[in-house]
Amino acid sequence: MIRLAIFASGTGSNAQKIIQYFEESDDVEISLIVSNKANAGVLNFAEHYDIPSMIIDRQFFYHTKQIVFELNHQSIDYIILAGFLWLIPSYLVKAFANKIINIHPALLPKYGGKGMYGLHVHDAVKKAGENKSGITIHYVNESYDDGAIIFQTSCEIYPEDLPTDIQKKVQILEHKYYPEIIEKIVLGEVKKRST
Ligand code: GRF
Repeated sequence: MIRLAIFASGTGSNAQKIIQYFEESDDVEISLIVSNKANAGVLNFAEHYDIPSMIIDRQFFYHTKQIVFELNHQSIDYIILAGFLWLIPSYLVKAFANKIINIHPALLPKYGGKGMYGLHVHDAVKKAGENKSGITIHYVNESYDDGAIIFQTSCEIYPEDLPTDIQKKVQILEHKYYPEIIEKIVLGEVKKRST
């Protein structure tokens, strides 16, 4: 079994899709949910699907390296970020080199970086008058939204679309593609391409 830990701060709709996708898998298991918020929606899914969960605080995450011990102890192979808003510290990037995957709700390298999350992203895309947006699945390095891109796909934006409309279109792509691309990556079917 390839064991995945999902890190999420929010609602966890992507986490839910990933959990459901791998529920019957013979190869891949969601073994741990990590959140930095005690009231994150994702923790309800963890409970519902009987997946162990862990709540972390800044002190633990940034000033100790204990999470590496914890992840190794639980034989975690990959870390999947699904709406996890904290920057991944360098020690963790190194400990899980090319084993941390993120999804960003825009076509990187545009509309990424610090503060570019949730509706902020779609507001910026709308303001720039883009006629398409989409998703980017990428490896995680020490900077926000900056690691090598693994997969992108796009959707059209019409002039009348509000940022919330763009968000809905992008979310459909996230839910459809993130689980299957994760599967391909962890099964070694996707090769890293340079950005
Ligand atoms: C998604 O838009 C994802 O691309 C981004 O954070 C959001 C998480 O949403 N990284 P949810 O909590 O999975 O609904």
